[in-house]
Amino acid sequence: MSGVNDIRSTFLRFFEKNEHQVVASSPLVPRNDPTLMFTNAGMVQFKNVFTGLESRPYSRATTAQKVVRAGGKHNDLDNVGYTARHLTFFEMLGNFSFGDYFKERAIELAWNLVTKDFDLPKDKLLVTVYSEDEEAATLWKKIAGFPDHKIIRIPTSDNFWQMGDTGPCGPCSEIFIDQGEHVWGGPPGSPEEDGDRFLEFWNLVFMQFDQTAPGERTPLPRPSIDTGMGLERMACILQGVQSVFDTDLFRHLIQATAEAIGRGPDGENDASFRVIADHLRSTAFLIADGVLPSNEGRGYVLRRIMRRAMRHARLLGAKEPVLYRVLPALVSEMGLAYPELGRAQALIAETLKLEEKRFLVTLDRGLNLLNEATEGFGQGASLPGETAFKLYDTYGFPLDLTQDALRARGIEVDLPGFNAAMERQKAEARASWAGSGEAASDAIWFGIRERVGATEFLGYDTERAEGAVVALVRDGQEVQDAPAGSEVSIVLNQTPFYAESGGQVGDAGVLRGNGIRVEVSDTQKYADGLFVHRGRVVEGTLTIGAALDLEVDHGRRAKIRANHSATHLLHEALRETLGSHVAQKGSLVAPERLRFDISHPKPIEPAELAEVERIANAIILQNAPVSTRLMAVDDAIAEGAMALFGEKYGDEVRVVSMGVATDGEKVGKTYSLELCGGTHVRATGDIGLVHVVSESATGAGVRRIEALTGASARAYLLEQDARVRRMASALRVAPSEAADRLDAIIEERRRLERELAEAKKRLAMAGPATGSGEGAASRVVGGVGFVGRVLEGVPARDLKGLVDEAKAGLGSGVVVFVGVEEGKASVVVGVTPDLTGRLDAVALVREASAAIGGKGGGGRPDMAQAGGPDASRAGAAIEAVEAALVQAEQAAA
Ligand code: ALA
Repeated sequence: MSGVNDIRSTFLRFFEKNEHQVVASSPLVPRNDPTLMFTNAGMVQFKNVFTGLESRPYSRATTAQKVVRAGGKHNDLDNVGYTARHLTFFEMLGNFSFGDYFKERAIELAWNLVTKDFDLPKDKLLVTVYSEDEEAATLWKKIAGFPDHKIIRIPTSDNFWQMGDTGPCGPCSEIFIDQGEHVWGGPPGSPEEDGDRFLEFWNLVFMQFDQTAPGERTPLPRPSIDTGMGLERMACILQGVQSVFDTDLFRHLIQATAEAIGRGPDGENDASFRVIADHLRSTAFLIADGVLPSNEGRGYVLRRIMRRAMRHARLLGAKEPVLYRVLPALVSEMGLAYPELGRAQALIAETLKLEEKRFLVTLDRGLNLLNEATEGFGQGASLPGETAFKLYDTYGFPLDLTQDALRARGIEVDLPGFNAAMERQKAEARASWAGSGEAASDAIWFGIRERVGATEFLGYDTERAEGAVVALVRDGQEVQDAPAGSEVSIVLNQTPFYAESGGQVGDAGVLRGNGIRVEVSDTQKYADGLFVHRGRVVEGTLTIGAALDLEVDHGRRAKIRANHSATHLLHEALRETLGSHVAQKGSLVAPERLRFDISHPKPIEPAELAEVERIANAIILQNAPVSTRLMAVDDAIAEGAMALFGEKYGDEVRVVSMGVATDGEKVGKTYSLELCGGTHVRATGDIGLVHVVSESATGAGVRRIEALTGASARAYLLEQDARVRRMASALRVAPSEAADRLDAIIEERRRLERELAEAKKRLAMAGPATGSGEGAASRVVGGVGFVGRVLEGVPARDLKGLVDEAKAGLGSGVVVFVGVEEGKASVVVGVTPDLTGRLDAVALVREASAAIGGKGGGGRPDMAQAGGPDASRAGAAIEAVEAALVQAEQAAA
C-alpha cells in the first residue's frame, strides 16, 4: 500500500526522470495574482510563465502544490464532510510544459505514470475530453488504445479549465477510475455522475489561451501543459478505499481527533470527524502562510473554516478547545514535506486555541437560539434572514455555519432577508458616522474603506506581491486615473507595504505593470485598515483596476526591521538596567536610526548606557529566531508581554518574542516579549549591532535615546575611529594614548596662556608712557599725578588690575590705560581715593571713549571703563583725559 508521502514522491521522481524541474509549492496566498483569494491550482505560480510575461531557466516543471478551494471560483467548502472526495485543502500534483511538449507527450507521460509506476488496471480507466477537441480523443485512442465508449466527450465548461475569471485556460481531459459496481454512480456526463463510482483523479489541461477579460481570449505565445492530480484521491485508489477520509493520513488525523475528544471515531456524527480533519489542514496551512482569522477577506474565510470545525467538535461532544491538540498529529504527518508547518506550529496552536476559546462561549448560546427559532420546522422550511443575521452579528456565526447547522434537517436560510438585514445595519452605521463631524478628507477614506474593505497586509511574509488598484485619490478627490507626473494616493486590495503605525515609518518602494511605474515614498493607514500608498506616477497612466507588481524597497525595510527589533531589545535592557519603572513613552523606527523615549527621572549615566548596550548586543549575538504569535490580549499580558499604557488593543494581539534571558529571574525564558504589529528581523543576528549615540531629556521625567544598528552603527563607529586615528597621528602618539596626551596638552596650554599674559603685562608696563610729557613714568597734569599708557596686546580684562597696580604706585593721581587688541581699544581710568571728591573716573573715561569712537562708558568714581572701535586713536584718548584734567584745574581756580 502506498502512503500519501510515497505517492507524492513517486509522482515528483517520475517527472524528474523525464527532465522536469522539481519546484517547491508556492504559498497559499498568491503573491503573483491579486485576483485570486487563495492558490487554487498548481499552475498559479506559473501563471506569468504561461502568458510569456515571466521566463524561467526551465521549460518543464513538476510540483506538489498546496491548494485551498474555499472562497472564489473554485469553492468546495459546503461539500466537505458530506461527500467522499471534497476537501477545502488538498495537494495537487502537477507537471507543466511551458511551450515545450504539448498534448501528445502529456497524454503519453500521464498514461505511463498511471499504468506503470502507479500500476492502475487499464480496463478500469476512462477519460473525458472537451467535445470540440477531436485531437485529444484521437491521441487517447492511439496511446491508451481506448475504445470509443471510454473516451467521453463533454461539451460543458467541466472540460474547459479556467484559473479564474481571468488568466490562462484551455480545454482539458480528465482521467477517471471506475471503482466498481458496488459503489453508486454513473460515468461522467450521465445523470448519475455525482455518485462516487467513477472517480476523477487527474486533469490534463491543454493551455492555449489567456482570458484577459470576461469573453475575451488571446492565444498563449506557445501551447503549454498544466496538469493536476489530486494526491488524496490517488491515495484512495492505491489504498483501495472509497473515501479520501479513509486514507492513511486522514485516518491518523481522525484518530487523533477522537482521542482528543475522548470518544470513538465512528458512529453518530462521524461526518464531523471528516470536517474537522479537512478544516484543520486548511487552517494550519493558511496560518503558516500568513493568514490570521479576521472579519474580512482571506482572514474571514479562515475564520469561517475554523468556526465550522469548532461547531463540529462541539457536535462530537467537545466542551473544551480541542483542535489545537490535534495539530501535532498533522505536523507529524505533513511536516516533513512542508517544513513551514513545523515553523509555524506555535502560532497555529495559539491561534486555534484563542479562536476556539472565544467562540465556544457564544456557540452554545447561538445554537440554542437557532434551535428555538426552528422549533417545529419541517423539511424545506426556511429560517428568517433576520435570525440568521442576528446569529452572525451577535454570536459570530458565519452564514455558512448557520446553513451547515440546518442542513441535516433540510432547512434553508432566507438569503434575501439575511442580505437586507446586513444592508440595513451598514446603512445605520453610515448614518451615525456621517453625523460625527469628521473632516472632509477623512470622509473620503471612510467612504473608500466601506466600499472596498480593509487592505490585506502581506508584508509580514513577503516584500513583493501583486495587487490591484481599488481607489485613487488626487488633490483630495477620488479619481479614475492618474497620469504620468501626478502625485497620487493609491489604495490596493492587498499589499506588502507596511503603513506607518506603532512608531514604525511607512514603507517606500515601486509599483510596476504594463508600462506603469509609480514611485511610492510613504504608506499611511486610514479609516481602520485602509493602506494608502503615497507616490508619484513616473511612467504611464495609473487606472482603477490595474494589476501591479508591488515591491517594497528591500534595503530600506531591512534597516527598519533591524531598528524595530533593536528597539525591543533596548526596551527590555533598559528595564533590566534602570528598573521596572521604565515604560515606553514613544518611539520612532526609521531606516536610518531609532529613537526611543522612556520614563526615567534622571539622566541615564554613561555606565548604565554601556550596560544596556552590552545586554542588547549579547542577545543579538545569540542569533535567536524572532517569533510571532497571535494571542488573547489578557493571556499575552499574563505571560509578561509588554504592552503600552493607554494603547488600544483588539481582543487578539500579535506578540513578538526574541532572545533568551541568560540571567536574572527570567533565565532560560524568552528575553523580550512585546505586543507589536511591526515588522521584525528573522533572527536577532540580523540586527548586527546596536549602538546608542545620544541620551537626552525631552520633558519632565522622560529621557530619549537614539541608536543606530547594523551598517549604520558600523559606519558611525568607523567614522569615530577614523577621527581618533587622525587626532592620534596629529598628536604623534598611539590612538590609545591620544586622550591622555590631549589632557596634558590642554593643561600645558593653560599654563602657557597664563605665562604669556604675565609677560605681555610686564612688557607693556616697562615701555614709555604715552602723552604730552614723553619718557616720564608719571607726570603732573592739571595739578595731579598722572600716568597714561597705550598697552599693545593687553586685553580689556587685564586692564583693571594694571590700573589698580599703577594707582597704588602713584599714591595720588589719575591713571589712564588704553589696551589695544585686534584694532579695537579699551580704556580704563582710575582715580585715587583722595581725589574722588573732585575728579570722577566716569566723566574722564567718557572723554577717552569719545576719542576712540566709543559710546561712553561706565563704572564708579574711582574706576571706570569704556571701549571703542578705533585703536589708532589710542594716544588721543589719553590726551583727551589730560585735557579734561587741565580744564578741571582751571575751572577750580
Ligand atoms: N489546473 C488544473 C486543475 O486545477 C490542472 O484542475
